[in-house]
Amino acid sequence: MPERFVEKTLREKDPQFDLTLRPAEFKDFVGQERLKERLGLFIRAARERGEALEHTLFSGPPGLGKTTLAYIIASAMGANIKATSGPVIDKAGDLAGLLTNLGNGDILFIDEIHRLNKVIEEYLYPAMEDFTLDIIIDTGPSARSVRLNLPRFTLIGATTRSGLISAPLRSRFGMGIRVDYYPANELEQIVLRSAAILSVAITAEGAREIARRARGTPRIANNLLRRVRDYAQVKAGNKITPEVADAALALLDVDEHGLDEMDKRLLTTIIRHFSGGPVGIGSLAVAVGEEAGTLEEVYEPYLIQQGYLKRTSQGRVATDKAYARFGNGMKPGAPQGELF
Ligand SMILES: Nc1ncnc2c1ncn2[C@@H]1O[C@H](COP(=O)(O)OP(=O)(O)OP(=O)(O)O)[C@@H](O)[C@H]1O
Ligand SMILES: [Mg+2]
Repeated sequence: MPERFVEKTLREKDPQFDLTLRPAEFKDFVGQERLKERLGLFIRAARERGEALEHTLFSGPPGLGKTTLAYIIASAMGANIKATSGPVIDKAGDLAGLLTNLGNGDILFIDEIHRLNKVIEEYLYPAMEDFTLDIIIDTGPSARSVRLNLPRFTLIGATTRSGLISAPLRSRFGMGIRVDYYPANELEQIVLRSAAILSVAITAEGAREIARRARGTPRIANNLLRRVRDYAQVKAGNKITPEVADAALALLDVDEHGLDEMDKRLLTTIIRHFSGGPVGIGSLAVAVGEEAGTLEEVYEPYLIQQGYLKRTSQGRVATDKAYARFGNGMKPGAPQGELF
C-alpha cells in the first residue's frame, strides 16, 4: 500500500468510529492527569457558585482530545453544548443566531477558532466579555444598530494553531489549556480501553506495540488499532499479540517509531539539503512544502519531544538520533552530501 495513502487514512478523522470510542466523562478520559485535575476544580467551583464556566481555549496538535474535552465539560457542567467551527461562521447573523439560541450556562464550542473571520471575531469580543451583541439590522438609511443581551454562556474554543489566535481574542479566555502528546503508557491504556469497547481480544504487549507507534496521539492509536484488528481477524485468529500488531503495521508501512511522512520528510530535508542545520523555519517550510506555522505547531513538538530535532537560536538542527535513522550513513556536521 502506498505510504501516502496510509498516512492520509491515519490522519483522517472518522466520525463514526470516533463516536463509539470517544470518552463521554472524565473518568473515561485516559491520562492528562494535571489537566483533568485543573479542569475538575474549575468546574466544581463554577457549579458550586451556580455560574457558567469561564471561557476556555484548548490548544494542541490534532487528535489529542480537545473536542472530546469540550463535550466532557458540558456533561460535567450539566450544560447543553452547541458545536460549530471557525470557518463555518461567515456572517455576523450566523453568530447572532448561535448565541441567541443558547441558554444560561450553555456551551458554545468553536473548533478551529483560529480560522474565524476577523469581522466575526470582533463581534465575539463584547459577547464574551459583557454578554451583549451589537448587530446592524437593515441596510441603507434605515440601518440601525441593535443591542442584544445574551445568556451567560461559556465559549470553548479549540485550535491546533495557537500562534494564529489574536491577542485580543486570547485575552478574553479565562482559561487557556494546552493539551500535550500522551506518554506511551497512557496510549497503551487508551488502546486497551478502545479494544474492550470494540470487543477485540488483545494482550497488554499487543496494546503496547500499537501505542508505541501512535505518535503520542489517541486518534492515531485508535486508527492503528482498527487496522490491526482487521489484520488479526483475517490472518491471526482474531487476537492481537505484539507479533500480530507488528506484522499488521509493517504491512501498512507504519513507521516503527510512529513518525509519519511529514516527520520523515522534515528530518531528511534538514539532513540532506541543509547539512543537518541549523536552518531557519522559513527555508525549511519552503523545502518541505508546508506552512511554517503548521511545522512549528503540529510537527515539531513531537519531533522535539522524541529527541529528533532541536530548536536553537540559529534555527532547526537534526540530532544524532535523527542522523542514526535518516542519515543513511551521513554524520552530523559533515559537508553536504558526503558519505562516511
Ligand atoms: N484521553 C483520552 N482517552 C481516551 N480516548 C481519547 C482521549 N483523547 C482522545 N481520545 C480519542 O481520540 C479521538 C480524537 O480526539 P478529539 O477528536 O477530541 O481530538 P482533537 O484534539 O479535537 O483533534 P482535532 O484537533 O483534529 O480536532 C477521540 O474521538 C477519542 O476516541
Ligand atoms: Mg477536534
